[in-house]
Amino acid sequence: MPNYEPVLLRNVGVENARSIDVYRSRGGYRSAEKALKQMSPDDVIDEVKKANLRGRGGAGFPAGVKWTFLPKDRKRTLLCVNADESEPPTFCNRVLMEEDPHQLIEGTIIAGYTTRAQIAYIYLRVEFHEQFHILQKAVDEAYAAGLLGKNILGSDYSLEIYLHRGAGAYVCGEETGLIESIEGKRGWPRIKPPFPAIEGLFRQPTVVNNVETLANLPHIIERGADWFLSIGPPGSSGPKLFCISGPVNRPGCYEGPMTITCEELIMSDEYGQGMRGSVPVKAVFPGGTSMGVLKGDELGMKMDFDDPRNYGLLGLGTAAAVVVNAETDIRLVLRNLARFYALESCGQCTQCREGTSWMYRIAQRIENGAGRVEDLDLLEEVAGRMGMMPGLSICGLPDGATFPVRGVVQKFRAELEERIRNQDPGKVEAVLAVLN
Ligand SMILES: Cc1cc2nc3c(=O)[nH]c(=O)nc-3n(C[C@H](O)[C@H](O)[C@H](O)COP(=O)(O)O)c2cc1C
Ligand code: SF4
Repeated sequence: MPNYEPVLLRNVGVENARSIDVYRSRGGYRSAEKALKQMSPDDVIDEVKKANLRGRGGAGFPAGVKWTFLPKDRKRTLLCVNADESEPPTFCNRVLMEEDPHQLIEGTIIAGYTTRAQIAYIYLRVEFHEQFHILQKAVDEAYAAGLLGKNILGSDYSLEIYLHRGAGAYVCGEETGLIESIEGKRGWPRIKPPFPAIEGLFRQPTVVNNVETLANLPHIIERGADWFLSIGPPGSSGPKLFCISGPVNRPGCYEGPMTITCEELIMSDEYGQGMRGSVPVKAVFPGGTSMGVLKGDELGMKMDFDDPRNYGLLGLGTAAAVVVNAETDIRLVLRNLARFYALESCGQCTQCREGTSWMYRIAQRIENGAGRVEDLDLLEEVAGRMGMMPGLSICGLPDGATFPVRGVVQKFRAELEERIRNQDPGKVEAVLAVLN
């Protein structure tokens, strides 16, 4: 995007950007000081509400509104920073933690002050070894500088930050799975209500926010809600990180306004720089895989919170686009998707446990060359009978499992049918013998 000035990634490429001295020399921690010394928690909530900062963790729920769900007469508040980042193929949080850890710590201080949290846990998936050490070093520096611990910057606000590493499960990114995991239990999502704001971690009022959501806070406090609203379309304001992976010329994590289209993300010089070998696009999963799929002729979709629904998608999700080129067999894509969700279902709910495994077995049969055209209807039927939307599950994992599977079956039905019709009958028998 020409003339877009990076906000969240502004320190990327700056020498020693992870150190507290460099962060502070570039204006870092001034917003935390402003919030603590010049604003009341309600002032911060009003500013964040006015900015309409929508959560970047997937659901797009407004952060300021979420904070107001905490009981007014609470004695304690706990803050959980969701750095699980388990949605394939998403790596925006990783880049933020790696490149600019103090930005996240500053956002955490502001959110902690606003919600009156005394303790914040940053929950990282186990694979984030390097990011864990980078963050821990930054947290130590912040303590040494009086930015964490008792009476931050001479104010009467105190905050402790603990880093907590999960064991690496997709479902631990779901906020109540994450809470269970911090409590030292198996990361099984909880039945809601009660929602975490009322009864969360250690049964105390709890706020769960995503890394990128919190990284926006210092900038809203510094530059104000009107500045934030001036970036991006109405309803999708502020800077946004987008990931792009797959056979594009320049995969990576980029920042821009949510006015960009999926096509710009793939093709423009500022982002993906086009398809490798100029092979056309067959499909794109623009919001992480769980939001659903676009066909190659649907790339005009805007990467904002609202437009994805016009294309049959669940939402913007994590804004991490995975691109599939025209040379890829769509059966492979289908099987790979179905496998991931079948492996990651925690197994508490029958429809999710059985349904995701059933979809995987059908997709596997189709990929192995032993599918039946009726399998496509069966996949759609199974997908229609799972998830929170029909009220059949504890968490949203099965909704995220069915949207891409159903999307692939509906949007690529002709290709799937053709592949099934052209299967080698001898191979069908052989494969069925193994599978049965
Ligand atoms: C199966 C599943 C996995 C999730 N994984 C993540 C994750 O890795 N990171 C994240 O921030 N949110 C994830 N979420 C969403 C969280 O439950 C929660 O909405 C989010 O952390 C709230 O932060 P936000 O309001 O700042 O977006 C997941 C949800 C589900 C259903
Ligand atoms: S919906 Fe699936 S992942 Fe979520 S709690 Fe139930 S079984 Fe576990």
